[in-house]
Amino acid sequence: MSPMLAVIAGDGIGPDVVREALGVLRAVEDRFHPGIQVEQLPYGAEHYLKTGETIPPMEMKRLGRDFDAILVGALGDPRVPGNEHARDILLGMRFQLDLYVNERPARLMDARLTPLKGKEPADLDLVIFRENTEGLYVSVGGRFKEGTPDEIAIAEELNTRKGVERIIRYAFEWAASNGKSSVTMADKANAIAAHHLWRTVFDDVGREYAGIERGTRYIDAMAMDLVRTPEAFQVIVTGNLFGDILSDLASVLVGGLGLAPSANRNPGVVTMYEPVHGSAPPLAGKDVANPMAAILTIAMMLADLDFAEASSAVESAVRAAIAEGIGTPDVGGRLGTRAVGEWIAERVRTS
Ligand SMILES: NC(=O)c1ccc[n+]([C@@H]2O[C@H](COP(=O)([O-])OP(=O)(O)OC[C@H]3O[C@@H](n4cnc5c(N)ncnc54)[C@H](O)[C@@H]3O)[C@@H](O)[C@H]2O)c1
Repeated sequence: MSPMLAVIAGDGIGPDVVREALGVLRAVEDRFHPGIQVEQLPYGAEHYLKTGETIPPMEMKRLGRDFDAILVGALGDPRVPGNEHARDILLGMRFQLDLYVNERPARLMDARLTPLKGKEPADLDLVIFRENTEGLYVSVGGRFKEGTPDEIAIAEELNTRKGVERIIRYAFEWAASNGKSSVTMADKANAIAAHHLWRTVFDDVGREYAGIERGTRYIDAMAMDLVRTPEAFQVIVTGNLFGDILSDLASVLVGGLGLAPSANRNPGVVTMYEPVHGSAPPLAGKDVANPMAAILTIAMMLADLDFAEASSAVESAVRAAIAEGIGTPDVGGRLGTRAVGEWIAERVRTS
């Protein structure tokens, strides 16, 4: 059976970078013939503003049932200031499909790309596992007496043992099966008592993985150490908000958001792939957005679908582009989105 890929290009630079990612996927088809069937879905700000519909519940069900992978560009548009369409579509997928693992690798491809002095690719090669369905993102709380001097805004942070345990276990399992020797957890247990649950579970689960060293950091120290000694980290596991922030920081250490791919997973359920970056509205449609993050998400998807050779070819083509100075301005290049995407696609076809 052909693998089925649903594509939601979304808003802002989403369509710009997804167009190039799909161009690379066509090159993969030409060379490796994986036979992936692509279906484009219209959801995003434009569709919402035209129809009032974010994503229909049946469509969410279909995404979970009929597809092997979902590729999302980015969601967020200044014409929808409340961001309700993005919440329904993006958080909707994460929560309703229970995609509890947000895997965000940060690997330095070339020493030129890091703002850190004296660091080499071997010093920056880590993966962040962010809990993706709980924490402060569950919308428990709200604003009361809005607009008055007595206004109150409350956001509850949800941490369940099940939720904490499954992301921590996933991180240890991944470390064990990828030859890693340490897992570090970031929390704020010194100030937020609920985070002791993370510490307890981290120790309980970690003890099952004898060959893997356990480390913990408070999130503030983690941010500092990630910049100071990135080579100390191989696998980082953390909650929803801290993972969101830490992965942006990690991406900058390896060249920026334009190079950061991610996958939202729950083993046995469809995986949703997306570049870490948002919709960057000021860059939209100007042929300046870096398509490499979206292209590297395609490499992650191909690896998961067991097209290892095709995945390596895509990643090698991105590495070759970086090595040869082919890139958009954010990575020091002079080319546009389209030219970079086409160069990488051609490399995949011919290398
Ligand atoms: N997963 C998602 O869809 C997602 C993630 C983050 C933000 N957002 C949304 O995106 C909108 C903009 O948010 P933001 O500005 O905070 O974050 P952003 O990621 O869109 O942009 C942050 C910075 O990175 C730059 N940047 C991002 N992607 C780039 C790329 N591919 N190439 C070159 N430069 C790039 C932008 O120009 C900007 O300077 C908001 O509506 C936000 O809610 C969506």
